[in-house]
Amino acid sequence: MSKRALHVHANADTLNQAVADQIATLSAQAISRHGSFFVALSGGSTPRRLYQLLSSPAYTDHIDWPQVHIFFGDERCVPHDHPDSNFRMADEALLAHVPIPAQQIHAIPTDASAAGDNAASYERVLRDCLPHDNSGGWPQFDLVLLGLGPDGHTASLFPDTAILRERQRAAAAVYVDKLDAWRISLTLPTLEQARQLLFMVTGSDKAEIVRHALQPLPDDAILPVQRLQPGGSVDWHIDRAAAAALADQATS
Ligand code: 6PG
Repeated sequence: MSKRALHVHANADTLNQAVADQIATLSAQAISRHGSFFVALSGGSTPRRLYQLLSSPAYTDHIDWPQVHIFFGDERCVPHDHPDSNFRMADEALLAHVPIPAQQIHAIPTDASAAGDNAASYERVLRDCLPHDNSGGWPQFDLVLLGLGPDGHTASLFPDTAILRERQRAAAAVYVDKLDAWRISLTLPTLEQARQLLFMVTGSDKAEIVRHALQPLPDDAILPVQRLQPGGSVDWHIDRAAAAALADQATS
Protein backbone atom coordinates (compact mmCIF):
# COMPACT_ATOMS: atom_id res chain seq x y z
CA MET A 1 0.00 0.00 0.00
CA SER A 2 1.54 3.33 -1.00
CA LYS A 3 2.04 6.21 1.40
CA ARG A 4 0.81 9.64 0.27
CA ALA A 5 1.86 12.89 1.90
CA LEU A 6 0.77 16.43 1.07
CA HIS A 7 3.14 19.32 1.82
CA VAL A 8 1.77 22.84 1.42
CA HIS A 9 4.51 25.48 1.26
CA ALA A 10 4.26 29.26 1.65
CA ASN A 11 5.70 29.86 -1.82
CA ALA A 12 7.74 28.33 -4.65
CA ASP A 13 11.06 29.18 -2.98
CA THR A 14 10.27 27.33 0.25
CA LEU A 15 8.82 24.50 -1.82
CA ASN A 16 12.02 24.16 -3.88
CA GLN A 17 14.14 24.21 -0.71
CA ALA A 18 12.07 21.43 0.84
CA VAL A 19 12.14 19.33 -2.34
CA ALA A 20 15.89 19.79 -2.73
CA ASP A 21 16.39 18.65 0.87
CA GLN A 22 14.16 15.61 0.27
CA ILE A 23 16.09 14.72 -2.90
CA ALA A 24 19.38 14.94 -0.97
CA THR A 25 17.97 12.57 1.66
CA LEU A 26 16.54 10.16 -0.94
CA SER A 27 19.85 10.10 -2.82
CA ALA A 28 21.79 9.22 0.35
CA GLN A 29 19.29 6.45 1.18
CA ALA A 30 19.44 5.00 -2.35
CA ILE A 31 23.23 5.12 -2.55
CA SER A 32 23.43 3.46 0.85
CA ARG A 33 20.93 0.81 -0.30
CA HIS A 34 22.29 -0.11 -3.72
CA GLY A 35 25.22 2.14 -4.53
CA SER A 36 23.40 4.43 -6.97
CA PHE A 37 20.53 6.92 -7.18
CA PHE A 38 18.28 6.37 -10.19
CA VAL A 39 16.11 9.42 -10.79
CA ALA A 40 13.78 10.55 -13.59
CA LEU A 41 13.58 14.33 -14.00
CA SER A 42 10.39 16.16 -14.81
CA GLY A 43 10.04 18.61 -17.67
CA GLY A 44 7.98 21.72 -18.10
CA SER A 45 8.76 25.01 -16.35
CA THR A 46 8.12 24.30 -12.66
CA PRO A 47 11.30 22.31 -11.89
CA ARG A 48 13.78 24.73 -13.51
CA ARG A 49 14.37 26.67 -10.27
CA LEU A 50 14.72 23.43 -8.32
CA TYR A 51 17.38 22.21 -10.74
CA GLN A 52 19.25 25.51 -10.39
CA LEU A 53 19.07 25.16 -6.61
CA LEU A 54 20.43 21.60 -6.79
CA SER A 55 23.38 22.86 -8.84
CA SER A 56 24.19 25.53 -6.23
CA PRO A 57 27.05 25.12 -3.72
CA ALA A 58 24.51 24.29 -0.98
CA TYR A 59 23.80 20.95 -2.74
CA THR A 60 26.84 20.18 -4.85
CA ASP A 61 28.50 18.92 -1.64
CA HIS A 62 25.35 17.27 -0.24
CA ILE A 63 24.64 14.90 -3.11
CA ASP A 64 27.08 12.22 -4.25
CA TRP A 65 26.67 13.19 -7.92
CA PRO A 66 29.07 10.55 -9.37
CA GLN A 67 26.61 7.92 -8.08
CA VAL A 68 23.55 9.61 -9.64
CA HIS A 69 21.95 8.22 -12.82
CA ILE A 70 19.70 10.68 -14.64
CA PHE A 71 16.70 9.78 -16.79
CA PHE A 72 13.65 11.76 -17.91
CA GLY A 73 9.97 11.21 -17.22
CA ASP A 74 9.08 12.42 -20.69
CA GLU A 75 10.37 14.37 -23.65
CA ARG A 76 9.08 16.41 -26.49
CA CYS A 77 10.07 15.03 -29.92
CA VAL A 78 12.42 17.88 -30.73
CA PRO A 79 16.23 18.10 -30.91
CA HIS A 80 17.96 18.24 -27.52
CA ASP A 81 19.09 21.81 -28.23
CA HIS A 82 15.53 22.96 -29.05
CA PRO A 83 13.99 25.56 -26.65
CA ASP A 84 11.14 23.10 -25.90
CA SER A 85 13.47 20.22 -25.00
CA ASN A 86 13.17 18.95 -21.43
CA PHE A 87 16.75 17.71 -21.71
CA ARG A 88 17.96 21.18 -22.67
CA MET A 89 16.18 22.78 -19.71
CA ALA A 90 17.65 20.26 -17.24
CA ASP A 91 21.10 20.45 -18.83
CA GLU A 92 21.24 24.24 -18.62
CA ALA A 93 19.86 24.37 -15.06
CA LEU A 94 21.61 21.35 -13.52
CA LEU A 95 23.38 18.70 -15.57
CA ALA A 96 26.07 20.96 -17.03
CA HIS A 97 27.00 22.09 -13.51
CA VAL A 98 27.33 18.88 -11.48
CA PRO A 99 29.87 16.02 -11.79
CA ILE A 100 27.60 13.27 -13.11
CA PRO A 101 29.50 11.02 -15.57
CA ALA A 102 28.16 11.60 -19.08
CA GLN A 103 27.34 7.90 -19.50
CA GLN A 104 24.99 8.19 -16.51
CA ILE A 105 22.85 10.87 -18.14
CA HIS A 106 20.19 9.21 -20.31
CA ALA A 107 18.38 11.73 -22.48
CA ILE A 108 15.35 10.33 -24.25
CA PRO A 109 16.40 9.92 -27.91
CA THR A 110 14.48 12.16 -30.31
CA ASP A 111 16.57 11.67 -33.44
CA ALA A 112 14.68 8.85 -35.13
CA SER A 113 11.99 9.82 -37.65
CA ALA A 114 9.46 7.60 -35.85
CA ALA A 115 8.69 8.46 -32.22
CA GLY A 116 7.95 4.78 -31.59
CA ASP A 117 11.54 3.87 -32.47
CA ASN A 118 12.84 6.45 -30.00
CA ALA A 119 10.51 5.14 -27.31
CA ALA A 120 11.63 1.55 -27.92
CA SER A 121 15.25 2.62 -27.71
CA TYR A 122 14.59 4.43 -24.44
CA GLU A 123 12.77 1.42 -23.03
CA ARG A 124 15.84 -0.71 -23.74
CA VAL A 125 17.95 1.78 -21.79
CA LEU A 126 15.52 1.63 -18.86
CA ARG A 127 15.54 -2.15 -18.79
CA ASP A 128 19.35 -2.31 -19.17
CA CYS A 129 20.25 0.37 -16.61
CA LEU A 130 17.64 0.30 -13.84
CA PRO A 131 17.40 -2.25 -11.03
CA HIS A 132 14.53 -4.72 -11.37
CA ASP A 133 14.35 -5.88 -7.76
CA ASN A 134 10.58 -6.16 -7.62
CA SER A 135 8.23 -9.05 -8.17
CA GLY A 136 7.33 -8.08 -11.74
CA GLY A 137 10.95 -7.55 -12.82
CA TRP A 138 9.96 -4.05 -13.89
CA PRO A 139 12.64 -1.32 -14.15
CA GLN A 140 12.47 0.57 -10.87
CA PHE A 141 13.40 4.19 -10.19
CA ASP A 142 14.40 5.42 -6.77
CA LEU A 143 12.67 8.71 -7.54
CA VAL A 144 10.47 10.11 -10.30
CA LEU A 145 9.87 13.86 -10.27
CA LEU A 146 6.53 14.84 -11.77
CA GLY A 147 4.52 17.93 -12.57
CA LEU A 148 0.79 18.35 -13.14
CA GLY A 149 -0.72 19.90 -16.21
CA PRO A 150 -3.95 21.96 -16.16
CA ASP A 151 -5.78 18.98 -17.73
CA GLY A 152 -4.53 16.54 -15.12
CA HIS A 153 -1.74 15.07 -17.22
CA THR A 154 1.57 14.11 -15.69
CA ALA A 155 4.74 13.28 -17.61
CA SER A 156 3.18 12.97 -21.08
CA LEU A 157 0.23 10.88 -19.93
CA PHE A 158 -2.43 13.12 -21.45
CA PRO A 159 -6.21 12.60 -21.20
CA ASP A 160 -7.83 10.38 -23.84
CA THR A 161 -4.54 9.04 -25.20
CA ALA A 162 -3.64 5.41 -25.90
CA ILE A 163 -0.60 5.52 -23.63
CA LEU A 164 -2.95 5.47 -20.62
CA ARG A 165 -3.78 1.85 -21.56
CA GLU A 166 -0.13 0.81 -22.00
CA ARG A 167 0.77 -1.83 -19.43
CA GLN A 168 3.44 -3.82 -21.30
CA ARG A 169 6.01 -1.19 -22.22
CA ALA A 170 8.06 0.80 -19.68
CA ALA A 171 8.08 3.81 -22.03
CA ALA A 172 6.04 4.64 -25.09
CA ALA A 173 5.38 7.27 -27.74
CA VAL A 174 2.13 9.20 -27.62
CA TYR A 175 0.57 11.55 -30.15
CA VAL A 176 -1.13 14.46 -28.36
CA ASP A 177 -3.89 15.83 -30.60
CA LYS A 178 -4.26 19.17 -28.84
CA LEU A 179 -0.54 19.83 -29.11
CA ASP A 180 -0.37 18.34 -32.60
CA ALA A 181 2.85 16.77 -31.41
CA TRP A 182 4.46 13.46 -30.50
CA ARG A 183 5.83 12.91 -27.03
CA ILE A 184 7.74 10.05 -25.39
CA SER A 185 6.85 9.20 -21.81
CA LEU A 186 7.29 6.74 -18.99
CA THR A 187 4.14 4.65 -18.76
CA LEU A 188 1.83 4.20 -15.80
CA PRO A 189 3.37 0.88 -14.68
CA THR A 190 6.84 2.43 -14.61
CA LEU A 191 5.63 5.30 -12.45
CA GLU A 192 3.74 2.85 -10.24
CA GLN A 193 6.86 0.73 -9.70
CA ALA A 194 8.96 3.67 -8.53
CA ARG A 195 10.03 3.67 -4.90
CA GLN A 196 9.16 7.35 -4.66
CA LEU A 197 7.02 9.73 -6.74
CA LEU A 198 7.40 13.43 -6.01
CA PHE A 199 4.95 15.94 -7.49
CA MET A 200 5.76 19.65 -7.61
CA VAL A 201 2.87 22.01 -8.38
CA THR A 202 2.89 25.79 -7.98
CA GLY A 203 0.72 28.75 -8.88
CA SER A 204 -2.92 29.76 -8.63
CA ASP A 205 -3.60 28.54 -12.17
CA LYS A 206 -3.14 24.97 -10.87
CA ALA A 207 -5.47 25.34 -7.85
CA GLU A 208 -8.54 23.77 -9.49
CA ILE A 209 -6.70 20.84 -11.04
CA VAL A 210 -4.91 20.18 -7.74
CA ARG A 211 -8.27 20.07 -5.95
CA HIS A 212 -9.57 17.64 -8.58
CA ALA A 213 -6.43 15.51 -8.61
CA LEU A 214 -6.30 15.10 -4.83
CA GLN A 215 -9.97 14.38 -4.25
CA PRO A 216 -11.10 10.76 -3.77
CA LEU A 217 -11.82 9.09 -7.09
CA PRO A 218 -15.08 10.47 -8.51
CA ASP A 219 -17.50 8.38 -10.53
CA ASP A 220 -17.00 10.41 -13.67
CA ALA A 221 -13.94 10.33 -15.95
CA ILE A 222 -10.82 10.33 -13.84
CA LEU A 223 -7.72 12.37 -14.61
CA PRO A 224 -4.59 10.65 -15.94
CA VAL A 225 -2.80 11.45 -12.68
CA GLN A 226 -5.63 9.74 -10.75
CA ARG A 227 -5.11 6.53 -12.73
CA LEU A 228 -1.80 6.05 -10.93
CA GLN A 229 -1.86 3.18 -8.40
CA PRO A 230 1.62 3.76 -6.94
CA GLY A 231 3.33 0.97 -5.03
CA GLY A 232 5.82 3.27 -3.34
CA SER A 233 5.66 6.61 -1.53
CA VAL A 234 4.01 9.63 -3.10
CA ASP A 235 4.79 13.16 -1.93
CA TRP A 236 2.86 16.14 -3.22
CA HIS A 237 4.67 19.44 -2.78
CA ILE A 238 2.40 22.36 -3.61
CA ASP A 239 2.60 26.03 -2.77
CA ARG A 240 -0.19 27.93 -1.04
CA ALA A 241 -1.37 29.41 -4.34
CA ALA A 242 -1.85 25.95 -5.85
CA ALA A 243 -3.54 24.81 -2.62
CA ALA A 244 -6.08 27.64 -2.69
CA ALA A 245 -9.00 25.34 -3.62
CA LEU A 246 -8.21 22.72 -0.97
CA ALA A 247 -10.30 22.75 2.19
CA ASP A 248 -7.52 22.43 4.75
CA GLN A 249 -4.34 24.31 3.83
CA ALA A 250 -2.06 23.67 6.79
CA THR A 251 1.33 24.92 5.57
CA SER A 252 4.45 22.77 5.99
C1 6PG B 1 6.36 18.35 -19.83
C2 6PG B 1 6.15 17.77 -18.45
C3 6PG B 1 4.73 17.93 -18.06
C4 6PG B 1 4.74 19.05 -17.03
C5 6PG B 1 3.36 19.58 -16.79
C6 6PG B 1 3.45 20.84 -15.90
O1 6PG B 1 7.14 17.82 -20.61
O2 6PG B 1 5.75 19.42 -20.07
O3 6PG B 1 6.65 16.59 -18.26
O4 6PG B 1 4.12 16.79 -17.51
O5 6PG B 1 5.28 18.54 -15.81
O6 6PG B 1 2.80 19.93 -18.04
O7 6PG B 1 4.20 21.79 -16.62
P1 6PG B 1 4.63 23.19 -15.93
O8 6PG B 1 5.60 22.85 -14.84
O9 6PG B 1 5.26 23.97 -17.04
O10 6PG B 1 3.36 23.80 -15.39
